[in-house]
Amino acid sequence: MATSSAQFTSEFSNPNLDILLSEERIRDRIKDLGAQITSDYAGLNPLLIGVLKGACFFLSDLMRAIDTRLGIEFMAISSYGSSTRTSGEVRIMKDLDVPIEGRHILVVEDIVDTGLTLSYLLANLKSRGAASVKLAALLDKFERRQREVKIDYLGFQIPDEFVVGYGLDFAERYRNLPFIAVLKNPEA
Ligand code: IMP
Ligand code: MG
Repeated sequence: MATSSAQFTSEFSNPNLDILLSEERIRDRIKDLGAQITSDYAGLNPLLIGVLKGACFFLSDLMRAIDTRLGIEFMAISSYGSSTRTSGEVRIMKDLDVPIEGRHILVVEDIVDTGLTLSYLLANLKSRGAASVKLAALLDKFERRQREVKIDYLGFQIPDEFVVGYGLDFAERYRNLPFIAVLKNPEA
């Protein structure tokens, strides 16, 4: 494979990105959240449910910061709408592989924006007879909330800007950035 510099286009230093949260800030915050969750859930064998695909890094980093027995599952949710805005119509694309009756559930999500997706998902999980259902979200775009959602473990509150990286995408791009950045011009 040719490796001339003309063919190498860095995504991490893309000029269309403004870094909002560095790798180090994310790592430090997740360490704190992990310690808090460790003490809150000690002995409860919680089931962490990661919401695909955006929460993939947050789940994998968070679970390694939690020092007690736990299990993980994944769900995929689709909310109809454009690539930057949710419509509010929610559909489960991939459901859990196990029943959750009597389990302590911790939903792990990348970002709470309008709250429409999470309010649907949390109500759905509660209706399945879980012993408890709580939410860990890395980012909270609180200014845009339409439905009240209680975030039990929050990474960061952020302004109303479209962000990408660390699992978050714009039209499936930028998930691989190790940091979180504001996408300056989605059309570029
Ligand atoms: P909500 O139902 O409006 O709270 O939407 C939550 C979902 O919208 C998140 O799980 C993300 O997939 C997506 N989303 C909302 N804001 C952003 C953003 O700034 N960047 C990337 N995805 C976002
Ligand atoms: Mg998501």
